[in-house]
Amino acid sequence: MLPMFEPSVHSSRRKALLSSLAAGDDPSLRNGLLVFPGNRESPMNYPDNAYRFRQDSSFLYFFALAEPDLAATVDLATGESTLYADELTEDMLVWTGPRPSVREQADSAGVERVSPRDRLAADCAGRRLLYLPPYRAETAAELAALAGTDPGAVASGASMPLVRAAIALREIKEDREIGRIERAVDISIDMHLEVVRAARAGMTEAELMAAAYRVALAGGGMPSFPPIATTRGAVLHNHGYGNTLADGGMFLLDAGAETDDGYAGDLTSTFPIGGRYDDRQRAVYGIVLEAGRAAVSAIRPGVPYREAHFAAARAIATGLAGLGLMKGDPEEAVAAGAHALFFPHGLGHQMGLDVHDMEGLGELLVGYDGEPRSTQFGLKSLRMAKPVKPGMVLTVEPGIYFIEGLIERWKAAGKFAQFIEYGELDGWKGLGGFRNEEDWLVTGSGARRLGKPFDKSVAAMEAFRLP
Ligand code: GLY
Ligand code: MN
Ligand code: MN
Repeated sequence: MLPMFEPSVHSSRRKALLSSLAAGDDPSLRNGLLVFPGNRESPMNYPDNAYRFRQDSSFLYFFALAEPDLAATVDLATGESTLYADELTEDMLVWTGPRPSVREQADSAGVERVSPRDRLAADCAGRRLLYLPPYRAETAAELAALAGTDPGAVASGASMPLVRAAIALREIKEDREIGRIERAVDISIDMHLEVVRAARAGMTEAELMAAAYRVALAGGGMPSFPPIATTRGAVLHNHGYGNTLADGGMFLLDAGAETDDGYAGDLTSTFPIGGRYDDRQRAVYGIVLEAGRAAVSAIRPGVPYREAHFAAARAIATGLAGLGLMKGDPEEAVAAGAHALFFPHGLGHQMGLDVHDMEGLGELLVGYDGEPRSTQFGLKSLRMAKPVKPGMVLTVEPGIYFIEGLIERWKAAGKFAQFIEYGELDGWKGLGGFRNEEDWLVTGSGARRLGKPFDKSVAAMEAFRLP
């Protein structure tokens, strides 16, 4: 990964973090030490065969450095930061090549002090440690050792003031970050165009997956998450790639790029393998697009993202009523949760250095400000519900799915029979799944779609197809 921004950007972020913690006026924090363990290599099947290294996103945000085995602290008493890292050994020089000295690395992040990696434990001794919740076992183990607690108790010992302060900073994207995210979205758009153009009956899902990967890698980074490239769009997280494409079916691609400096894009397209939507496919896809428009028109500073989710859900209930698949008042159907038979997930999530941005810091804080989350089927899967602010980046990803087993279960139970036309639905069950996902920036008055033009209309999706 490339270094991120100039050193002052990262030192300013750490200063902002310190100011935010100081403003909380919690006397117990005054002598605290913020501890940020960077990520280590993670083996796949034996120690030297590791997954692609990915630095922790908060570490990238505050310390810029994307090498494994680093750690850093910020001392609340002095305001100084320290990078804990080891100089290049002869073996490292041979196997992984040259790299800047520790002092140079620290300078590139505006970090005042440097120290050998194994000094971290001694420097933490006797201090009140504040850390973000770990999501890797080895990080939990190190934090447990540093804090003198049980690894099982480490996550619950994460500092809530620090978590809240980190979220408040990271969720408002700086203009320089928007530029990087747009680059990720542009590469993501190219991934999608490549797949839409290439898809043909007789190909396997894996061939299209490879096409998407090729564009992401050629863009300098990687996919931002394992793509969903499937002929079975009604299986929401379908991660097998063995099916063969057949004319008449739909293909669903949920894929995005991560740039070489760590920013994510996340898009979904649903298109007909044969090149033309049939009448039913066109109708359902059109409702998904309309749901996206309805959602976007509800995005405004101060308005809870839950309202945008409901706007999409109402558009889906209304559209499906037009096809004879739902009935009754769409508002009541959505309030009851009946639409979730077709739209069982949430409208979207924040996006930035993580594709589900900051989810490792706790989805309830990131998406709900710590407020309770619904337990209703469908609504419980909404990741982001809280009021939006200018500078937030959000995905808008409504979908309609014909999940055969779920339809059969609900029909047998007579569930929401006042809102769902089960008799009519029987004839639609094989239609699959449709989702459209775009990435949007909250502005001062509404929202702006990120990335270069990418027309998702029926006519445009059909026209992208090469002859
Ligand atoms: N890529 C997973 C999602 O859309 O949230
Ligand atoms: Mn996605
Ligand atoms: Mn998404």
